[in-house]
Amino acid sequence: MEKEQELLPLIQDILDNPAFQDLKNYAHHGPENTVYDHSLATARMAYTLGLRLGLNTEALRSLTRVALLHDFFGYDWHEDWYRAFVRRYHGLRRFTHMHAFVHGEIAALRAKLYFDLDDKQCGSIASHMFPLSTTLPKSREAWLVTLADKVVASKEMSVTAGHGVRNAYHRLWRAARMSGGALYVRK
Ligand SMILES: [Fe+2]
Ligand SMILES: [Fe+2]
Repeated sequence: MEKEQELLPLIQDILDNPAFQDLKNYAHHGPENTVYDHSLATARMAYTLGLRLGLNTEALRSLTRVALLHDFFGYDWHEDWYRAFVRRYHGLRRFTHMHAFVHGEIAALRAKLYFDLDDKQCGSIASHMFPLSTTLPKSREAWLVTLADKVVASKEMSVTAGHGVRNAYHRLWRAARMSGGALYVRK
């Protein structure tokens, strides 16, 4: 709680921005996770890592803001228009235009339009998908954003996978009940 009170003043202007609020409309790692949720969780994780490493106030502020903006690409990559966009390319170019490869660069360009970011911060956002990014993380900040994103994403995806397994089990169990238990193996 105390940590949250110290964290929020570093990022409140970004959280209040309507363009950032719009990230609540985009599903991300599963149906119950939005880009907004994921970005805020990544900022919290980056802040915790930065505190543990003893970053000074300015470095901690920059790291937390960059982590919050790392997925500020501003579109829903699950939608048909995005699939159509990728289908315009062929072979290796189609592969390299997939969301995983391009969204770091897009997020960096877009974040610079809305917020006052320097080149180092834009680089940290652009490289956060390393090793899928087109650029390497070149600073401590960039590596910490990459790490925070991966830790948070794997937690979120394991929750989603857990829901998937539970739902499949419940569907099987209901089907077994409806079929009078015929799906159970009996001796
Ligand atoms: Fe990302
Ligand atoms: Fe992310």
